[in-house]
Amino acid sequence: MRTHTCGELTKSNLGQEVDLCGWVHRRRDHGGVIFIDLRDRSGLMQVVFDPDTPDTFSLAESVRAEYVLKVHGKVRERPEGTVNPGLPTGQIEVLVSELDVLNRSETPPFPLEGDIDVKEEIRLRYRYIDLRRPEMLERLKLRTKITRNLRSFLDQKGFYDIETPYLTKATPEGARDYLVPSRTHEGAFFALPQSPQLYKQLLMIAGMDRYYQIARCFRDEDLRADRQPEFTQLDIETSFMDEEGIMDLMEDMVRKLFGEVLEQELPDPFPRMTYAEAMRRYGSDRPDLRIELELVDIADLMKGVEFKVFSGPANDPDGRVAALRVPNGSKLSRKEINELTAFVAIYGAKGLAYIKVNDRQAGKAGLQSPILKFIPDEIVEAILDRCAVETGDLIFFGADKQTIVNESLGALRVKLGCDLGMAKSSWQPLWVVDFPMFERDPGRKRWNALHHPFTAPSGSREELQADPGNMISRAYDLVVNGMELGGGSIRIHDAQMQETVFELLGIGEEESRTKFGFLLDALKYGCPPHGGIAFGLDRLVMLMAGASTIRDVMAFPKTQTAACPMIDAPARVSDAQLKELGIRLRTRPGAEAAET
Ligand code: AMO
Ligand code: AMP
Repeated sequence: MRTHTCGELTKSNLGQEVDLCGWVHRRRDHGGVIFIDLRDRSGLMQVVFDPDTPDTFSLAESVRAEYVLKVHGKVRERPEGTVNPGLPTGQIEVLVSELDVLNRSETPPFPLEGDIDVKEEIRLRYRYIDLRRPEMLERLKLRTKITRNLRSFLDQKGFYDIETPYLTKATPEGARDYLVPSRTHEGAFFALPQSPQLYKQLLMIAGMDRYYQIARCFRDEDLRADRQPEFTQLDIETSFMDEEGIMDLMEDMVRKLFGEVLEQELPDPFPRMTYAEAMRRYGSDRPDLRIELELVDIADLMKGVEFKVFSGPANDPDGRVAALRVPNGSKLSRKEINELTAFVAIYGAKGLAYIKVNDRQAGKAGLQSPILKFIPDEIVEAILDRCAVETGDLIFFGADKQTIVNESLGALRVKLGCDLGMAKSSWQPLWVVDFPMFERDPGRKRWNALHHPFTAPSGSREELQADPGNMISRAYDLVVNGMELGGGSIRIHDAQMQETVFELLGIGEEESRTKFGFLLDALKYGCPPHGGIAFGLDRLVMLMAGASTIRDVMAFPKTQTAACPMIDAPARVSDAQLKELGIRLRTRPGAEAAET
């Protein structure tokens, strides 16, 4: 239908007769001449109608925004003074001799230009229009470039691209499953995969050696800006490689990706940090290294003070007392500090003590703080020394259970870094390594896997059984600018070890047979040592696109309440369908209990 796309014409096409197709982006009437910006995914081209061709001209008068047109005309230079330097095609235009209106359009529910101020719900309901916006189009184009680049790297390195089933059985990744009832096995359910974890391990047992898949994963969990119930992983597994080999290979892949797609150079090698160090210095296992603020432990100084708020956690083995120095923070107002106190309360902090250092040389008289009266002078001095404060700084304090102090001061650190403009603008990748195998389940007296139950410990089975709480796993996470991009590990390839881990996780023999019997069996048939990783592809695109939500880099995302307003899903189904599946609903929103 067309000889060119709208964005590809340049001055080299001057004088040529061309056919273009696209949408009416903008239409302007200028004293007897009509200008239309015709848009397709490649860009915009100004097409011009003048009254010398009266039929075409009057047809052009009738077109409205988002009509679909085909035009035939001649490429010419724009008259002086009408050149648009902001547009790649801004030096030329097409003088139209024939116009075809291929389709009409109702007035779109929102304009497609500039910073549109529309509720996201509306954008998602009319997603096909939202995606016409150049900004959205660019993001999906970037996504294509990214997946193409990743595929080509893995292809060169000899990875097979293998699909694994979506109708499967629960794989524990820590979220709830989406279930799918089976018509042919009444009362039984498939689970949609939270990840292809077990299939990729089975592929290693099958001898595939190197596998990857761009796989959809389904997790019914609370959503955030960087989480979707249905998301995509770049899922990878290899045999006969240890963690060094896997991390090196993955680094090469990510460096090449950033280099080729964004022309950005990432460090070589990526820095590494242990989980323990990350928690100690940043209160987080995914520290944003663009921000230099750090937590400083002061529990040892606080053990003997009368102020119970501090001495309590200082003497509690599960407690933590930490300080966060904010350079030039003494300019924060009372109101701002109150707001920050409310912010840390979200993470369970009961308060946010602080010391403002108005004059470091003036001793106590130079300080301003609600807690000075509770703390002996020499201890205050020791804190100031340890934090290396200077005049004009402020120190915040957190005292509570470790998790609360880490989460609240960890989040405060990032917030202050961003709000006060202290974040460096650079790419800061980081491998976090040496995670513990387990963490205590607070409610129940048992362990939870920090990664997943198939991750190998760094010691023997005997060592693991003797002291599970201190066993380090062979897991690694890749963090970039504070976002967890990917996580993986060397896996357990020994059936006995796997059984021991299940046992420690409180998964009894019977349960482990029913849920993972196939894996335990497979491990007995010559399972090679293997390991891998999965990257959150949507998160990677989000990061590289500089988007603020994961939804902006997915063509058809779900809302924050895990629904799709466009097709109106999830939706009720007919009684007949339920009956066929052998399902009776207990209650139905807005209706009597369903009778089937
Ligand atoms: P994990 O659960 O850490 O590991 O997931 C890997 C990566 O997937 C991304 N991710 C998500 N992205 C968007 N929305 C979500 N709800 C979501 N959940 C996770 C993150 C995360 O780093 N099978 C293991 C991997 C392995 O061991 O090889 C796994 O799934 O970027
Ligand atoms: P209070 O004696 O409760 O008024 O607290 C005195 C100061 O300590 C206030 O600035 C509180 O915000 C702060 N504070 C209270 N509890 C904590 C805590 N758990 N961690 C840090 N600061 C706290």
